[in-house]
Amino acid sequence: MELNNRIKALIFDLDGVLVDTAHFHYLAWKEICSKYGMDLSLNDNLRLKGVSRTESLNIILNINNKSISQGEKQQILVEKNQCYLKLIETLNSNDLLPGALELLKSGKEHGLKIGLGSASKNATAILERTKIVEYFDYVVDGNMVKNSKPAPEVFKLCANKLAIEPEYCLVFEDSIAGVQAAKTANMSSVGVGFPADIVVADKHVDTLLNIKI
Ligand code: BG6
Ligand code: MG
Repeated sequence: MELNNRIKALIFDLDGVLVDTAHFHYLAWKEICSKYGMDLSLNDNLRLKGVSRTESLNIILNINNKSISQGEKQQILVEKNQCYLKLIETLNSNDLLPGALELLKSGKEHGLKIGLGSASKNATAILERTKIVEYFDYVVDGNMVKNSKPAPEVFKLCANKLAIEPEYCLVFEDSIAGVQAAKTANMSSVGVGFPADIVVADKHVDTLLNIKI
């Protein structure tokens, strides 16, 4: 896929687009679910992609028809993150997804602004560990927004900080929530990965290797 030459900024989702971490989120939630007597199928997991940790827990509780106290929720959120951090302990630049590094480099060489729009509160640590933090002109993570995807806030804030109008931004996403967020922010989007997950995106690629600037 060739990039439209009106594009001035590339805004990337992190988990499942740049770094191979999406399955670790799933594994961490699975562990929490089995501890607390809940279920999470692969199919239901699609609903968690791109959404915040808190919202993910709300969805899981809903699927399992469970209601718990705020205190218990907080406890589970902490445990889920501990579990996730353990799973990504050895994460490094080998865990970058195919074409990620090449596209970041090529974007920079072509003078495009590069932004991150991630729901993850662990985003900056992951960028550092995979050694790609230097490519980003601005990073928006889960600590900086109130309304997570599918709300457009994360991408709007990123575009604003990059000083690029939304119509000139191209978002790379692997989740339905993320593509919806990009659309609501008036940005074009490329769905990365399995198309069934991301049918609403403007364009699809299997991997970032298929993007040419
Ligand atoms: C998104 C993931 O990038 O970040 C979600 O797709 C995850 O699965 C969300 O729940 C929040 O991540 P974290 O690292 O703050 O728990
Ligand atoms: Mg993602």
